[in-house]
Amino acid sequence: DPLCFSGVWRFYDLLPFAPKDRIVTIGEGQTLLRPSDLAARYVGVDDGNLLLQYEGMNPSGSFKDNGMTAAFSHARMVGARRVACASTGNTSASLAVFCSATDFGFKAIIFIGSGKIAYGKLSQALDHGALTIQIVGDFDDALMRVREVSDRLGIYLMNSVNPFRLEGQKSIMFRVLEAMAWEVPDWIVVPGGNLGNSSAFGKAFQELKYLGLIDRIPRLAVINAAGAQTLDQLVGTHRMAWNSGLPDESISKAYYDRLDLEHIRASTIASAIEINRPVNLKKCLRALDVCDGVVRQVSDQEIMDAKARVGAGGLGCEPASAASVAGAKRLREEGIIAPGDRVVCILTGHQLKDPNATVAYHSSDREEFDRVLGSRGVKRAGFANR
Ligand code: F0G
Repeated sequence: DPLCFSGVWRFYDLLPFAPKDRIVTIGEGQTLLRPSDLAARYVGVDDGNLLLQYEGMNPSGSFKDNGMTAAFSHARMVGARRVACASTGNTSASLAVFCSATDFGFKAIIFIGSGKIAYGKLSQALDHGALTIQIVGDFDDALMRVREVSDRLGIYLMNSVNPFRLEGQKSIMFRVLEAMAWEVPDWIVVPGGNLGNSSAFGKAFQELKYLGLIDRIPRLAVINAAGAQTLDQLVGTHRMAWNSGLPDESISKAYYDRLDLEHIRASTIASAIEINRPVNLKKCLRALDVCDGVVRQVSDQEIMDAKARVGAGGLGCEPASAASVAGAKRLREEGIIAPGDRVVCILTGHQLKDPNATVAYHSSDREEFDRVLGSRGVKRAGFANR
C-alpha cells in the first residue's frame, strides 16, 4: 500500500475526505523528532526537554509537502489541472515538485514578489518546470493577485486559504505525538507567517481531544518575525474586537488600511515569513483559544543566533524555522515556559533553502556579510568564531 510510505496518509483515518484511489502522494511527511541539549541549554530548559521536529526531510525540503498532498488529492477529486500559488518560496517549491513528480496533468503557476525569494527555493520552482511569474510587490501583493487571477480563470489555488492544505498539515502534530508515544508535550512552538500551520495544529489537537486520543491539549506559541510587524497587533486588535462585540472585519480592515497608508512593508531576513497580512488569522485565533496560546515576535538577530545553535546541534534549518527556537528562549526568559516543561519547536524548512543568510552570518568576508545582513543590523556569529 503506497499510502503507508506517506507520513501524512499513514493517518488516513484522521483525514477521511479523500477516497484512497484519488490520493496524490510523493512520499511526503518524512520527518524526525530529535532532542537537542545544545538547543535546550540555549533556550533554558532542562536537558532532554527541548525537542526539534525537523521538516527538512520532505521531498521538497519543507513542511509544505504535508499540506500539498492533501490539496492535490482534492484537486484531483474535482478534476483540476492548472494549479497556482503565491509564495515566499517553499509553497511554490512544493507545488512544483508535486506537479512534476506525478502524471495527472497538473500544470504549476507561481507568483512571487520581486527579489523576495531565497535562491534555493527559486531554483526548485525553475528546475521542476513551473511557470514562474515575478510581480512588482511583496508576498502580500502576490497573494492578492493570484487570488484574483485564479478566481477569474478557474485555476485551482494552492495557498493555505485552501482548507485541504491545513488538513494535511495536521499530520505534523500526529507525527510529533506518535514519536512521543502519545505523551502530550507542554508546548508546541511554531513560526507564523500566513498562519496555516498554527491553525492546522489547533484543529488537530481539538479533534484528537474530541476523539479521546489525547487527554490534554499542549499550549501553542506562534512566533512572528519582528520585521513582519504584524502578529502581536493583529491578535491584540482581534481579541479586542471579540471582547467588545465589534465585528472583527472592521477592525482588521482599519489595521490593514493603516498599513497601506503608512506604506508599512514586512522586512526580515526570515524571508519565508515576511508577511504582514496573514490569510489564516481568524483560524489561528481559534487555535490560540483552543491551545491557550501566545504570540511573540523575535528580531532577525535572535533568529540567526538561534539558527546557529540549532545547526551546531546537528540540524540545518532556514532562518524562519529558527524563529521557533528564538521564541521559546524568549518565553523561557519571561517565565512563561518553565525549565521543566517539554517543548517541541517546529523546524519548518531545510538549511539549504537559503544558504546566503547562513554564509553571511558566519562569514569573515565583510562584503558578503554587509550585502546580506549588514543593513539589518544583525551581528555576526559570536560563538562560532570562538
Ligand atoms: N516556515 C517556513 C520555512 C515557511 O516557508 C513558511 C511559510 C512558514 C514557516 C510560515 O508558515 O504560513 O503556515 O504560518 N511559507 C509560505 C510560502 C508563505 O510561500 O512558502 P505559515
